[in-house]
Amino acid sequence: MADLTGRVAFITGAARGQGRAHAVRLARDGADILGIDICQDIESLDIPNASLEDLAETKRLVEAEGRRMIARQADVRDFAAVSEAVDEAVAEFGRLDIVIANAGVVRLGTEDDGLAEWNDIIGVNLTGVFHTCRASIAPMIAGGRGGSIVITSSTAGIRGAHSAVAGGLAYTAAKRGVVGLMQVLANDLAQHWIRVNTIHPTGVATKMLFNDAMRKLFKSGHMSVARMQNALPIEVLQPEDIAGAVAWLVSDEARFITGVQMPLDAGFTIR
Ligand SMILES: NC(=O)c1ccc[n+]([C@@H]2O[C@H](COP(=O)([O-])OP(=O)(O)OC[C@H]3O[C@@H](n4cnc5c(N)ncnc54)[C@H](O)[C@@H]3O)[C@@H](O)[C@H]2O)c1
Repeated sequence: MADLTGRVAFITGAARGQGRAHAVRLARDGADILGIDICQDIESLDIPNASLEDLAETKRLVEAEGRRMIARQADVRDFAAVSEAVDEAVAEFGRLDIVIANAGVVRLGTEDDGLAEWNDIIGVNLTGVFHTCRASIAPMIAGGRGGSIVITSSTAGIRGAHSAVAGGLAYTAAKRGVVGLMQVLANDLAQHWIRVNTIHPTGVATKMLFNDAMRKLFKSGHMSVARMQNALPIEVLQPEDIAGAVAWLVSDEARFITGVQMPLDAGFTIR
């Protein structure tokens, strides 16, 4: 376990799933947390987002680790809202060291009109990541202590094995798009000792994977389990598996690692 005592971490999509696991793990390792989440559904998508109660539960879990958390309802598509949350946390906690651009959505159902979900998925998964980075970089540079930005991509950001419906294409385009964003930012911010990396998880046991829309899709045969198989004989990872790897990546133990696409995928991308 790396020591993050005194650090401050900003996590998007913090109300549940991987975002909550990051918040709890980084708090356990010593960090105070700013967590934002949309906490409402997006009309074009068929997987419900988290609720305000979910976000409150993340805050409770962080506080149970003995750390502080500012939890705010904010949509990563809304730059002003993201920026306001970051400013509030910097004013309250006095610094910003770690950013986990984790918020994301997907829609793989075939009964779509194609365009609305393309825009919403690109809006959250690509533009939202840009907003998250843009709001965070100035206070990180001003802090003069370096930092670490981790962007949650997917195996879709490495391998073209996902669904070809509009939502699947948008997901893949966004998850590849953030790799470009990461590489340019990693180059540009290296002079400030701010590291930027992407992580590429395989299937993780969260509401994004386990929900009524996905169950229907698997049942209809539009999505095959074989296509989703990892090399290691493990069906899905747990959010805590991803959080453990990220806790290391943001720590000083990984202080020389930047510009890297890190598969956290049980060998999915080498199959
Ligand atoms: N679960 C998987 O199998 C898997 C695999 C690879 C990558 N990912 C990626 O991991 C990340 C986390 O997903 P998860 O698995 O925890 O799923 P999840 O659905 O449980 O969590 C996503 C969170 O993001 C929030 N969110 C959605 N739109 C938002 C917006 N516009 N602004 C702010 N918050 C928003 C949701 O409310 C939810 O709390 C996503 O980027 C996802 O694409 C997931």
